[in-house]
Parts: sequence; structure tokens; C-alpha cells
Amino acid sequence: MTAKVTVIDHPLILHKLTLMRQTTTSTAKFRNLLKEIGMLLAYEVTRDLPLKYEDIETPIAPMLAPMLAAEKKMVIVSIMRAGQGILDGILELMPSARVGHIGLYRDPTTHVAIEYYFKFPHDIEQRDVLIVDPMLATGNSAVAAVDRIKEVNPVSIKFLCLLAAPEGIAHFQEQHPDVPIYTAAIDDYLDEHGYIVPGLGDAGDRLYGTK
Ligand code: URA
Repeated sequence: MTAKVTVIDHPLILHKLTLMRQTTTSTAKFRNLLKEIGMLLAYEVTRDLPLKYEDIETPIAPMLAPMLAAEKKMVIVSIMRAGQGILDGILELMPSARVGHIGLYRDPTTHVAIEYYFKFPHDIEQRDVLIVDPMLATGNSAVAAVDRIKEVNPVSIKFLCLLAAPEGIAHFQEQHPDVPIYTAAIDDYLDEHGYIVPGLGDAGDRLYGTK
């Protein structure tokens, strides 16, 4: 079994992604674009949410109407810090979603993910989880985040990013063949510093203007 990769290549998303890639795009613009794309990606990732039917009254007539079936709201887990940018967009679309955070940084030489923070809703085992991080590069952070989330045994796990490298997808699929990946694009390769090529640079730095 290999995790399915869904490329959400909607024209609006691809146009906004191109703007994000450009060196000349300002921090404010980059942040806003990531939020907008987060919203559009969430729309597609939640396409398979189960529905239930309830009797309601419109001003005109009674009807049997669809509503989300899950008893418990979904948990969006943001991999800090760049995950925050996508999270903000998703919360615009799903304001009642619960939120978890996992803090991971990449050791600059080994590129291994090191955890420094983890906080999530106490009843996560009754909820669906969507883990978000803009960049699936080496895959180390994504794999570490899923390892950690699996310890608390949620109903389901999906992983959502903006850009993926083939190397990151392969590593992730090897470690977590049961977790589907959603991305807006798959780029060419990783460079020797672990950056996605052509990519968009360091997503965290561009989001927060730290470089
Ligand atoms: N993280 C980033 O922010 N950018 C990359 O290209 C790879 C990892």
C-alpha cells in the first residue's frame, strides 16, 4: 500500500502559487497569498467529509438537508512555524475546527526534525486530523509529525502542503503509506541544503520577514 498523492492543481491556486514563488513578492503579499491558498486547498481536502441528513425548515418549506456528519470537529495540526500560514486560511473556511501545534526545527546539518513543542485537543482520538506544513522537502518534519500524532490514535490523518519535492513524497510514503498527501504542486528536486527547487525559498522566513 502506498499513500495516495493528490495534486490540487486548480488554476486559482497555481496562479497564486506563482506569485508566491517570485522573489519580488513582499512579506505581506506572501502571507496573504498563503492564507488564500490555504482556504482553497482546504475546500478540496475536505471534499470527502461524510454528510448526514436532517429535517429543517426554510422560510418556504420543510426539507431534508445535508450537514457534516462527524460528531467532533476536525483538528488542524500546524507544523510550526510555517504551517501557521496555511492554518489561518483553513480557519477562515472552517472556523470551528480545533487546532493543534507541533514545533519542529530542522537541524541545519543533518536536516533531522527535532521536536520542541506539542499541544493538541485532549480528545483527539475521536477526531479526524489534518496536518499542515507548506513545504514537504526532505519529509523529515512531516514524518516526525505523523509519528507523534499516531501515538494519540486519531480517527484519521491527512497531510496537506503547498509544495512537495519528489524525495519528500518518497520518504513520507515509505514511512506512512496509510496517510494521504495533498499538495498544490510537485517540484523538481531538493538541493544540497534541503531546499525545494525551484520552490519558493524558506517559507517561514518569507511568511514572517525574518531574512
Ligand atoms: N523548507 C522551506 O521553507 N523551503 C524549502 O525549500 C524546503 C524546506
